[in-house]
Amino acid sequence: MNNTLRLSEIAGVGHYVPNRVVTNADLTGLMDTTDEWIQERTGIRERRWFEEGKDTTANMGANAARKALEMAGLTPDDVQLIVFATLSPDYFFPGSGVLLQRELGIQAPIPAFDVRNQCSGFVYALSMADQFIKTGMYDTVLVVGSEIHSSGLDISTRGRAVSVIFGDGAGAVVLRPSTRAEHGILSTHLHSQGEHAEELIVKEPGSNRNNRVEYVVANELDMYPYMNGQNVFKHAVVRFPQVIKEALDQNGYQPQDLDMLIPHQANLRITQYVQQKMGLPESKIFSNIQRYGNTTAASVPIALSEAVQEGRIKRGDLVCLAAFGSGFTWASALIKW
Ligand SMILES: CC(C)(COP(=O)(O)OP(=O)(O)OC[C@H]1O[C@@H](n2cnc3c(N)ncnc32)[C@H](O)[C@@H]1OP(=O)(O)O)[C@@H](O)C(=O)NCCC(=O)NCCS
Repeated sequence: MNNTLRLSEIAGVGHYVPNRVVTNADLTGLMDTTDEWIQERTGIRERRWFEEGKDTTANMGANAARKALEMAGLTPDDVQLIVFATLSPDYFFPGSGVLLQRELGIQAPIPAFDVRNQCSGFVYALSMADQFIKTGMYDTVLVVGSEIHSSGLDISTRGRAVSVIFGDGAGAVVLRPSTRAEHGILSTHLHSQGEHAEELIVKEPGSNRNNRVEYVVANELDMYPYMNGQNVFKHAVVRFPQVIKEALDQNGYQPQDLDMLIPHQANLRITQYVQQKMGLPESKIFSNIQRYGNTTAASVPIALSEAVQEGRIKRGDLVCLAAFGSGFTWASALIKW
């Protein structure tokens, strides 16, 4: 790492979730499941589902972005780059980044691109934005994570092991050059292991068919997510502590120096395992999966936004963001707030 480059800091953070609350009891009307099973295995009590005609992946991201910009004392026209993390884009192409630019009314032809890295998408996107600030290429970067899962889930008993977990929502941060010495994003750490690509996957519509439209019509079940839950769990509980420790080691910190750990909200049991493994008290690890389920690329910025709103992160705190998900991919960011 080149330490002479400038640091970036999170100047604003915000989130948006759809109004529609779907409780575990609501799911029992759609599939053979129970509140007890869902809470015991995942900690989830309810999640949000989008409203067709009102919420889109891009406009939920824009709602979160407006709040982040307001906190930073900036307007959409100040944004110089958009990095949009999602696995559920509005369109197959173009990406949701350009749609967000339109939603925010940004007339200038600023660059916008999508990051497709599922549950670690936001931390990857943050790392990319950080590089643009570090090198001096841009001063104001909007990083967004937004997802609509509910329209793509198999909400019958057949899909219950996956569909009870995921929810919809959006979060965003504004990155700016740090104004305080040694404060801001200290380092980011990105990893992937493609040998596990099919362990958590939505296969279709894949491009590697002679006629993908015909194939999808005949194999519509492959448009639903598949997850090898036990294997995902096994890898997650190893990779989370590893990538958090990597960030702490690089900056000469111990786990007890952490003021707040914001893990991707994959599953409350995974979070509790990580907490134990890192020897952290419950007060130093943020969980809101009980209310939102797993919102993949949106989960870290939603959790960060709530932690800031609730006053659980203050200036000078050492904050770690960490994520693991489909790919497998995993990542962390260590921030002196
Ligand atoms: C998904 C997960 C909760 C499933 O828990 P599990 O203990 O592995 O459960 P299994 O898949 O082995 O299923 C156990 C039983 O519960 C049943 N079951 C699955 N989903 C159910 C549901 N929603 N309600 C009731 N029963 C369910 C299964 O059919 C199975 O029944 P059987 O024993 O009669 O065959 C768990 O594997 C997990 O948390 N994995 C990690 C997932 C994750 O974090 N993903 C995101 C990563 S970013």
